Amino acid sequence: MSDKTSNQMWGGRFAAGPDAIMEAINASIGFDKRLAAQDIAGSRAHAAMLAAQGIITDSDAKAIREGLLTVLSEIESGDFTFSTALEDIHMNVEARLKEVIGEPAGRLHTGRSRNDQVATDFRLWVRDQLDAAETGLLALIQALLGQAEQGAEWVMPGFTHLQTAQPVTWGHHMMAYVEMFGRDLSRVRDARARMNESPLGAAALAGTGFPIDRHMTAEALGFDRPMGNSLDAVSARDFALEFLSVASISAMHLSRFAEELVIWSSAQFRFVTLSDRFSTGSSIMPQKKNPDAAELIRAKIGRIFGANVALMMVMKGLPLAYSKDMQEDKEQVFDAADNWMLALAAMEGMVRDMSANTSALEAAAAHGFSTATDLADWLVRETGLPFRDAHHVTGSLVAKAESKGCDLPDLSLEEMQDVHGNIDASVYDVLGVHNSVRSRMSYGGTAPQRVREQIAAWKERLA
Ligand code: ARG
Repeated sequence: MSDKTSNQMWGGRFAAGPDAIMEAINASIGFDKRLAAQDIAGSRAHAAMLAAQGIITDSDAKAIREGLLTVLSEIESGDFTFSTALEDIHMNVEARLKEVIGEPAGRLHTGRSRNDQVATDFRLWVRDQLDAAETGLLALIQALLGQAEQGAEWVMPGFTHLQTAQPVTWGHHMMAYVEMFGRDLSRVRDARARMNESPLGAAALAGTGFPIDRHMTAEALGFDRPMGNSLDAVSARDFALEFLSVASISAMHLSRFAEELVIWSSAQFRFVTLSDRFSTGSSIMPQKKNPDAAELIRAKIGRIFGANVALMMVMKGLPLAYSKDMQEDKEQVFDAADNWMLALAAMEGMVRDMSANTSALEAAAAHGFSTATDLADWLVRETGLPFRDAHHVTGSLVAKAESKGCDLPDLSLEEMQDVHGNIDASVYDVLGVHNSVRSRMSYGGTAPQRVREQIAAWKERLA
């Protein structure tokens, strides 16, 4: 059949084929060919069910199911010629099946519609991506745990407003991201559990008069159950939106970490050295080693947010049930999924390979009066000053050190006593960064012992 005549799948009432522009705006095969494996799995389950229910013969079902495997292997080996005139993956597969097995192919579409077919295919595809995201997040978390374990004691500056605030440990900082990616992981699992229901058999929108068994196809495709409302089954895309929302939140975490790596790897900070495997050089400046992977993670994340907003826009005005607008769901999700997986893998690689410059971290931790809070706390504990007053006294000491161009531990005892007479030499114990972090023993605090407990708890949780 030539592309100029009416469509072989739905062309019965059409005298002429579509305008070329119509074909261009209508066709989705350019992108939904990525659903081929899911489409064929769904059709094979449907054919088996039709035969089990006596709706088609066993021999037709056998021919259909085997023919579909032939089509799949043609697609996988690149031997398949996709046709734009056949619009989408569903009709491309069915048309090829007809060429391969002949007449029985025409019985496959009994008791279903492309509307439940595409909803099923897309759910299966998104489900695979949630599984891939789970794997990617777990690998990243393991890489972070490795860094945290190694550097549970290493001291670095903790920041607020990107100003030195208090010393923290490297392990503590790494574990902050373990918490974030751990929540992403639990969101992925929640989303998967919620979306794992089968739309297949909802047919066009109202169900079908054929005695189909939706539980059988649901089970065959690994769904927990069939969806309970056929109108909802064909028109729901919240599973895809939830995927994009979960991806967006995770991407936001990836981007924040990427931003830190860009800052940390700069010559001004020198907190980390990224491996050659995850850096690039400059074509003009021979000394440069650029954190391109981190920068690209930071940038690509915008596409994931964009996909989330774009699909919200597609869906927000659609009356029930199916509208062709919904065909615009796929490219957004495909692009977001590709970039999320890539960002997860790139981040994992960078984290695994990066090395912390412990001396630069410690030197930076000691600068910027990072133990001023420890000093104020000491005044409260040892001299009985109310915290507000201790804060004021410490502020004066900081001003004094600043005017001398030194750090707090460099002030002499006499200079300290000029500001507050009750200060004695034991104050120097709390001014060192190691004692500072060791003292922060509150639950979830930065003390190496607390950090090690959290590492152990996470390892047990993930085991
Ligand atoms: N290519 C379509 C999509 O992606 C498949 C469903 C078409 N259904 C229809 N009634 N035109 O949404």
